[in-house]
Amino acid sequence: MLSAIETIKARARCAAAVLLIFAALVAEGQSVPTKTGPVTADRQSEQNWWRNAVIYEIYPRSFQDTNGDGIGDLNGITERLDYLQELGVDAIWLTPVYPSPQVDFGYDISDYRAIDPQYGTMADFDRLVNEAAKRHIRVIMDMVMNHTSDQHKWFLESRSSRDNPYRDWYVWRDGKGETAASPGAPPNNWQSYFGHSAWQWDPKTRQYYYHKFYIQQPDLNWHNPKVHEAFKGIMAFWLERGVGGFRFDAITTLFEDPQLRDEGVVKDKNGNPIINAYGDPQLDDSRTNNQPGVHEVIEEMRAEAEKFDSNRFPGTRVLIGETYLPNVDELAKMYGTQEKPEFQLPMDTQVGMINKLDVTEFRSKLIDAETKIDSNIPLLLFDNHDNPRIDMRYGDGVHNKDIERVIATVLFASRGAALFYYGDEIGMVTTPPKRKQDVKDPIGITGWPQEKGRDGERTPMQWNAQPSAGFTTGKPWLPIPPSAATINVADEQNNPDSLLNWYRSLIRLKKTVPAFAHGANIMLDTENTKVLSWLRQSPGMPQIVVSANFTAEPQTVNLESSGSGLKAEHLKTLLKSPGGADPAALGHIELAPFGVYIGEIQ
Ligand code: NOJ
Repeated sequence: MLSAIETIKARARCAAAVLLIFAALVAEGQSVPTKTGPVTADRQSEQNWWRNAVIYEIYPRSFQDTNGDGIGDLNGITERLDYLQELGVDAIWLTPVYPSPQVDFGYDISDYRAIDPQYGTMADFDRLVNEAAKRHIRVIMDMVMNHTSDQHKWFLESRSSRDNPYRDWYVWRDGKGETAASPGAPPNNWQSYFGHSAWQWDPKTRQYYYHKFYIQQPDLNWHNPKVHEAFKGIMAFWLERGVGGFRFDAITTLFEDPQLRDEGVVKDKNGNPIINAYGDPQLDDSRTNNQPGVHEVIEEMRAEAEKFDSNRFPGTRVLIGETYLPNVDELAKMYGTQEKPEFQLPMDTQVGMINKLDVTEFRSKLIDAETKIDSNIPLLLFDNHDNPRIDMRYGDGVHNKDIERVIATVLFASRGAALFYYGDEIGMVTTPPKRKQDVKDPIGITGWPQEKGRDGERTPMQWNAQPSAGFTTGKPWLPIPPSAATINVADEQNNPDSLLNWYRSLIRLKKTVPAFAHGANIMLDTENTKVLSWLRQSPGMPQIVVSANFTAEPQTVNLESSGSGLKAEHLKTLLKSPGGADPAALGHIELAPFGVYIGEIQ
């Protein structure tokens, strides 16, 4: 499993106080003075909805099937909107639903302005957006700008001849040492994140094209202004249909080194090249990731989204970035500046991909999120469709449910926006294929058995304990995990101690308690290596303490004596793990193994 994580990491290299007071006022429902006069809290909360947004990622293929073809569809999502509203989500991010040959299950797009018939029609999409809006849920679309499908009309044109007007929309280069009889070698040593050379020879026009992902996903040439204009048009098309924003896929890989210099080979401590799951030497990504030009494109797209103003769809459109980056300084740059804003919410993979329950590391990364991104809003996440689920990355196999409570607590009880993946709320477990012949995700075939692909985290949503888990009446495109018999929405809904109800309670606190909604995160008891404790603080609001035990042993914490200066006459419990005790005082909080306590200081 670690190898899968390593591979994913490799792919991935594929006025604070004023604001807080403002946010607290808004959360309280007061009006806030602005340059143009008072603005009502309602209007402001429309504009600021994303600042403590709860965003739910849906993998449409696996969420809910309504036509019995074994593949989830848009009508299925619409059917489940009441569930999502009850859970408390503000927005759903749909992984791509555009027409696609589905080599990369939608991330290979052949038409950016339509819906793939296997997911439904444009009318279904419009109905989903409208029904979601009735429930105060926004729909966020995936925006894949790094590459298209090789079946997209732009690429079909591009590859048809060297002088086609679309030739320069993609990255074409000559091979090295080409002769009439042979294509020669690829232009350099660059590799696809999905294995082997990133250059594909195209015999018709006798050049190589570049693809950072699958061969069927040729990279667009972002030096070509026409590509910029095309995507601005695509964004406007979806904004006009009422979407709440976009999640920008693979945004850091838009540009490559124009001089085509080789990338470095990563070596182990003995100086030997590290070989990845595909049998290739691991490269350092230094010439194909996070290159100059990326920030200007994000800035341009943000400006485009800001231009959109519609009375039909009031509120702010949010731009989310898929930003796997080496450190928080690079993450901070993804927000842009006040004059040139970029993403409102670049994903903070620094916190979410720690991949071990290490209190010190969590604390340090959460402090970074609080102090090193200026006054911006962190977007925390722990899971998505590209990584083994939380059970595999944080679980110990014995206390997984409790550990998932701990992770959810960090996610929702920290300042900022929270993004989670369908099924996390019930504790769905990673279920990778057992045999190579069952693998659907092509990297699982190229990388077998070290890299089993991403099927394991994309299995159908477990709605109930029926054999089809309530997902489909047909044959599901991926098998229903055996765990559906015990891990499913229907059972958890009726169990007050379930993970589902833990998620609901945390989200309710995030939405209703001012300090919990927008308050600063201040770490407490900072030498403790077993328990992570922090304070949520908003001027004039009751303070809240959170303690989460990261160990399998009971722990007791004293938050009075830890130099915090905090004193509490009384602690009012807001939430605690099942069976946990109400502490008599802030100086003595007892936590069960992987137990959590959240209380208001009174
Ligand atoms: C990141 C997406 O999350 C992943 O699923 C996809 O394969 C690559 N980008 C390529 O689009």
